[in-house]
Amino acid sequence: MRVEYRNSTGLLAVIGDPIGHSLSPLLQNTMIRELGRDDLYLAIPVKRGGLPDFLQAARTIGISGFNLTMPHKQDVIPYLSDLTPEAGRAGSVNSVRIRDGRMEGHSTDGIGFRRALQDLGYDFPDRIVTILGAGGAARSIAMTAVDSGARQVRIVNRTPEKAEALCAGEPVMGAWPLTRAEEALGDTDILINTTPVGMEGAGQTGGFPFLRALKSGAPAVDCIYAPAVTPFMAAARELGHPVANGIGMLVYQAIYAYGFFRELEFDGETVARLGKLLLKASGVEHSGDQ
Ligand SMILES: NC(=O)c1ccc[n+]([C@@H]2O[C@H](COP(=O)([O-])OP(=O)(O)OC[C@H]3O[C@@H](n4cnc5c(N)ncnc54)[C@H](OP(=O)(O)O)[C@@H]3O)[C@@H](O)[C@H]2O)c1
Repeated sequence: MRVEYRNSTGLLAVIGDPIGHSLSPLLQNTMIRELGRDDLYLAIPVKRGGLPDFLQAARTIGISGFNLTMPHKQDVIPYLSDLTPEAGRAGSVNSVRIRDGRMEGHSTDGIGFRRALQDLGYDFPDRIVTILGAGGAARSIAMTAVDSGARQVRIVNRTPEKAEALCAGEPVMGAWPLTRAEEALGDTDILINTTPVGMEGAGQTGGFPFLRALKSGAPAVDCIYAPAVTPFMAAARELGHPVANGIGMLVYQAIYAYGFFRELEFDGETVARLGKLLLKASGVEHSGDQ
């Protein structure tokens, strides 16, 4: 896409490794143009261990804010001056705002996921929510689900200790080992995959045989959006469940992240309008159906 740059233009970025296929620059620059703002958003490759150099450079060249993806979402925390309550609760940061040299970390993954879920006609309040995985995305989504009134939030993970650690001190949360996933699914209202199993280029293999135990009609939502129909979605769809990929989450976390960078409070109508625009710009269908 064509972008405009002036001497006054603010600089924003996404960092990670790999970063070459990130949709964030397309989404953010589309949103910046739609809002008539004077910002430019870049993708910058930063390898694990490269954070201190990047943070120094960001201060020096005057970057106003940046998003983080793998492998930095937890590693960045010790370098930050402040965390928002959302990031503190999730123990994960996907957005950093730089003001007067101070770096403030925030997480928009959970709220972005919830807003995408609402587009699909579902929401967390009073629901039993089961999450596969116990990493950064799981933490952020789980805390949003708890804080928005889910009846129960169940974490099913390959490494049971990580699931237990995530649930510690949260009365509505419970941990299950992956080997006993079926036990958690019979009365689950919303199932979410936050493992990278099935993600293009992740090289992770694994199946979802336990899906046959999922409550009839419960939606199965993946955080992955490449491929547009993930193995998790295909398996759930085969069993008759409504399915969706992670493009909605990506779009809405981006909208809330830009709002955080620029201290803009978007009303519901603006979020919906930007969401529609960015979903279209991404070229990826929520349901995987083109
Ligand atoms: N759409 C979006 O906007 C968005 C935003 C954030 C993340 N994501 C996606 O969400 C996924 C997770 O991201 P993350 O940052 O949470 O990653 P992460 O912190 O590395 O956590 C990954 C989790 O998946 C589990 N896992 C990994 N490989 C597995 C396997 N082969 N079988 C079973 N479980 C496995 C890990 O289990 P152990 O604890 O046993 O290691 C861990 O709990 C990625 O695919 C990422 O691209 C999407």
